[in-house]
Amino acid sequence: MAEPNAPSSPSLIYWWLRKHLISCLSFSVALLLVALFSASSATIWQGVEKKPSSSDALAKNIILEQKAALSVERNYPITSNQKVNQLLADIINQMHSKRGALILNQVAWRRLFYQERIDFHPELIHDNFFSLTINQYQNFGSGLRLAHQVVKNLDLKTGKNLRISDFFADLGAIEQTFLPDLRFALLSSHKAKDLQPSEELLKNKINLASIDYFVLKPKAQWHFVLKPDVVRELGLEAKSVSLPIAAYSRVIYPDLLARLLELDRSKSQVSQVDSCQQHSCVALTFDDGPGAYTDRLLTILRRNQVPATFFVLGSRAQHQTQTLRRMFNEGHQIANHSWSHRDFTRLSLTELQQEIQQTNQIISQITKQDVSLTRPPYGSYNGRVLQELSRLRQAVILWSVDPRDWADRNSQIVQQRVLESTRRGSIVLLHDIHATSVEAVPTIIAELKARGYHLVTLDTLFAGSLRAGERYFSR
Ligand code: NI
Repeated sequence: MAEPNAPSSPSLIYWWLRKHLISCLSFSVALLLVALFSASSATIWQGVEKKPSSSDALAKNIILEQKAALSVERNYPITSNQKVNQLLADIINQMHSKRGALILNQVAWRRLFYQERIDFHPELIHDNFFSLTINQYQNFGSGLRLAHQVVKNLDLKTGKNLRISDFFADLGAIEQTFLPDLRFALLSSHKAKDLQPSEELLKNKINLASIDYFVLKPKAQWHFVLKPDVVRELGLEAKSVSLPIAAYSRVIYPDLLARLLELDRSKSQVSQVDSCQQHSCVALTFDDGPGAYTDRLLTILRRNQVPATFFVLGSRAQHQTQTLRRMFNEGHQIANHSWSHRDFTRLSLTELQQEIQQTNQIISQITKQDVSLTRPPYGSYNGRVLQELSRLRQAVILWSVDPRDWADRNSQIVQQRVLESTRRGSIVLLHDIHATSVEAVPTIIAELKARGYHLVTLDTLFAGSLRAGERYFSR
């Protein structure tokens, strides 16, 4: 459209006024419109699209209105999942309408300075998951300040925002394994040991509600950030801790787990290969339980991420199925040490059969797998026993390292004897019914790891090569 011709001099002032008054009016109308649209959370989203670095998610940069005294800017990602995109749009809209729209209304009328920016920071971008922080900044004239922040972990397959409870198929596992580990990790990160909060206090104060937010991290880690008031109240040095997702593999929903483990692709490929051909492996085995110290031992093993093999007694296991379930859930192997710990060479074939089958039944109820390993009580067997165990499809597992932990109830002696005689391929015999043996385990694990040994279950040690009726002392 062409400019109207400038009128002759008498009407010049009138023309100038008319031209600029219209500009002034349209500016006010624009402000009013922004305020109205914002208040009703209408999305007049348009703008330039740009890619955030290291990401296949698109960022859309939206400028609602930009003027010297008033600007509202939104940056948000676009993912491959429509549900996730809608969820993000809702979050950003809600964030703005809660804290931004009202201010905008006031600002528009009083002509105050106001600037708002909503943007995001990706924490993890993966085919399956997208973790991000969404930030809302506000500026009332003295600089842009972070006003509000939300963290989301989005499942790009289901379109869901993941909460911690969404991971666990077995909700009891949150109380039994997850929270104790979280507390332990917080304590471990505390360097000033004398100022460390007591375990009792942590137990009372650290629960799911203490977690401010979490994000998924590469190598399949959870990174938890605690609420500031909890950190302050407990005097914690660390406000955040990481836990490996793989440590909870037995209690996470299987389909979710499979996709989570892709966050650590190299790790998910370890199965089905004989890793003990390349590495020096050692198997820790625990007999005669479950007992009063078994849960303590399980916690030690979990924290060190060491799988072990438990030769349980059926007569005890029947009363401690929770502990058996925990063993299985936490990745240990459960095997047969008879029902009542009688010497197999003194039993009739019927009695021997009962000792094996009744115990295997208790274990199989938990593991849903056949039990194929038996350790005869006292390591006592003869040809007849071997023949019967072969018929019952049991491999006969003995040991190569025996610290005689039942005779010397002394942790240091037990540690010393184990560490003296352990070699590549050793099967170490311990008893989880003795507190002194359980207390020896952390040092044994630390030292064997320091020597480069991989601590594994018997299944891993022998990589599926065990045969029924055969005896095994070591690999
Ligand atoms: Ni025994």
